[in-house]
Amino acid sequence: MTTATEPWGETVSVEFEEGIAWVTLNRPDKRNAMNPTLNTEMCRVLDHLEADPRCRVLVLTGAGESFSAGMDLKEYFRDVEATGDLALQYKVRRESNEWQWRRLAYFPKPTIAMVNGWCFGGAFTPLVACDLAIADETAKFGLSEVNWGIPPGSVVTKALAATVPQRDALYFIMTGETFDGARAAQMRLVNEAVPAERLRERTRELATRLAGLNPVVLHSAKVGYRFAAEMSWSQSEDYLYAKLDQTRALDTDHGREKGLSQFLDDKSYRPGLGAFDPSKDPAKR
Ligand code: COA
Repeated sequence: MTTATEPWGETVSVEFEEGIAWVTLNRPDKRNAMNPTLNTEMCRVLDHLEADPRCRVLVLTGAGESFSAGMDLKEYFRDVEATGDLALQYKVRRESNEWQWRRLAYFPKPTIAMVNGWCFGGAFTPLVACDLAIADETAKFGLSEVNWGIPPGSVVTKALAATVPQRDALYFIMTGETFDGARAAQMRLVNEAVPAERLRERTRELATRLAGLNPVVLHSAKVGYRFAAEMSWSQSEDYLYAKLDQTRALDTDHGREKGLSQFLDDKSYRPGLGAFDPSKDPAKR
């Protein structure tokens, strides 16, 4: 594993391991609460990783006992408001949303949130913006906002609406009660919850599998899903066909032709009998 120090370092660390970029929110003494410095740094990190070939899959996690305790209540809220500087407030909000939602949701490579501990409030945004999520079954989640006098802000509520059923969403939004990783998996906020000692191994297994698949196809598949979810059926039909054609034009690896040939000519792979194992790709042997 190699550790890179630029262009990050102060509040975020990045390690590369066989196609996986492990991106760690790194303010453990503040339970990885997201302050303006971390938000600026994460924008730079995503910029960089987009083009870095060592990153085929991005895993987002937190240092120490926390994924993230949400927005930094002091530095993000109180300190910025105290300046009375509206332009500054716009800037810190923009940078926060920029990476936590927009950039992450449409990141051109697969993303996995690995929830290793506390996950509160604003942390639900990057959690849901990641394509997939695996949690420690004992991790503690909470929409604590009502406990300190505000409704969940930014797109936190929207993120919840996009993932969990209404009864669960409203229950936890309105009571501010916490729940664990196992419950998060039950209501589909995360894909899976595993014992703490399995968390990294299971995440690595999933990331490695994604790292072996065709990156152009994966990008189109995830972005296609996200946009189509907000379109009419007719628009989706047109858009997804256009996406398909775009993918074929961009895919220099010619995945579609290879896939068809593996099934129709070589008879080396039958998609209905199991997921494709990139390590057995005849083209790579
Ligand atoms: N914003 C700013 N600082 C935070 C923070 C946040 N969201 N969450 C934790 N911190 C800070 C604490 O103020 C404390 O700082 P200090 O050492 O200077 O006093 C430090 O991180 C450790 O927090 P502490 O509460 O002592 O740790 P804990 O392990 O006992 O509890 C939490 C962890 C996450 C349960 C608790 O810190 C908490 O409830 N945080 C707020 C969660 C929240 O409501 N987030 C929503 C924000 S949108």
